[in-house]
Amino acid sequence: MRQATVYIDREALQYNLNRVKQLAPTAQIVSMVKANAYGHGVKDCLAALGETDAFGVACLEEALEIRELGYQQPITLIEGIFSEDEMQVVIENNIECVVHHQQQLDWLRAHKAAYIGKNLKVWVKLNSGMNRLGFKVPEIIKVINSLKAEGFSCVLAMHFANADAEHPLNEQQKNQFLQVKQACAPVMGSCCNSAAIYKWPELNFDFVRPGIMLYGASPFADQSVHDLDLKPVMTFTAEIIALNHIQAGEHVGYGSTFTADQDMDLAIVSIGYGDGYPRAFPKQNYVAINGQATRVIGRVAMDMIAIDVTGIDAPLGTEVELWGKNRLVDDVAEANGTIGYELLCRLSARPIRK
Ligand SMILES: Cc1ncc(COP(=O)(O)O)c(C=O)c1O
Repeated sequence: MRQATVYIDREALQYNLNRVKQLAPTAQIVSMVKANAYGHGVKDCLAALGETDAFGVACLEEALEIRELGYQQPITLIEGIFSEDEMQVVIENNIECVVHHQQQLDWLRAHKAAYIGKNLKVWVKLNSGMNRLGFKVPEIIKVINSLKAEGFSCVLAMHFANADAEHPLNEQQKNQFLQVKQACAPVMGSCCNSAAIYKWPELNFDFVRPGIMLYGASPFADQSVHDLDLKPVMTFTAEIIALNHIQAGEHVGYGSTFTADQDMDLAIVSIGYGDGYPRAFPKQNYVAINGQATRVIGRVAMDMIAIDVTGIDAPLGTEVELWGKNRLVDDVAEANGTIGYELLCRLSARPIRK
C-alpha cells in the first residue's frame, strides 16, 4: 500500500492547549477548529481538545459536524450565518453567531426570543481597520448598546490584521477596541488569535481564539515553534519506493530542471502535489530522514519527488518526513513562499490518516 501518511499527535495538541491556558489564564479558550481543524482532522482533534471552553468555525456545516460528534461546548460561527434559514438550525443546535452587517442583525432580531431563550451570545464584530468584516466605530457602539437593551448578551469581537508583526495599524486597532469596550461597558471582549495571545496578554479579556498555535505551528515568521514552546501536532511522511544512482550531467524529473554536478544517489519518494505537497519551491526544500535533512531535487510531480540520499543510509521502504517534528512545516512553507497554515489546510484526501 502506498504509504503517504498523516500522523496526529494528540498529546502535542493537549500540550499546546495548555500553553494557551498558561498564557491566557483568565480567558475562556475558543479553539479554532475551522477548515477541518486546520487540515488535521476535526474528529481526532476534538478528542484531544476536551479541555477547551468552546470552538470556533467558519460555517454552520462545520459546527454541525462538531455537534454530530457529540460535543456540547459553545460554538461560534466566526462569519455568522449566510442566509436567514440557517438561523433556526443555529438556535436548535446551540450555536452562536458573529454579526458583522445589518442584514445579519435583522435575521438575528427576527429570531430574538428563541436566541435569547437559549442563552446564546452574539459576537458583534468591529471593523477597526482590517476592512474585512464588521461595523465601524461609532456604528458598532449603537449596535451593541441597542442589542444589550433588547436583552442580548454581547461579545465585542475583533481580529488583528498584523498581530504577527510590528505595524502602525496595531495601535489603531487596539485603541478602537478599547474605546468601544468602554463605550459599551459592561461588554465581554475577544480580540486575540495565536500571535496576539503571545504579544498582548493585556488584551486577552473574556475569550481568546487560538488557531495555529494549537497545531504546533508558528504565527510568527521570525519565531519558531521551539522558541514559542509549542509542539508540532502533524507529522506528514511518505516512503522511499525506488533508488537510482546517477552520474554527473544527468537530469532528474519533469522539465529536467536538475542536473547532477557529480555522481549521486537518488531516492524516489511516494509523495506529490496530488497529496497536497506543494509544487512550487522558489527556495531549496528539504525533507528529513531519521532527523537528518536532505534536499529535494527536481520538480515535485503529482505522486513523486526525488531526494538526494548520497552518503545517507536510506534503503527502500525508509520513512521520509515531509514535515513534522524534525522538518518544521513553517520551514517547508518558507521555502515554498507561503505560510504553514496553507500547507496544513490544503492536504488532499489521499494521504492515510493515523
Ligand atoms: C476571527 C478569527 N479568530 C481567530 C483566528 C485564529 O487565528 P490563528 O490561527 O492565527 O491563531 C482566526 C483565523 O483565521 C480568525 O479568522
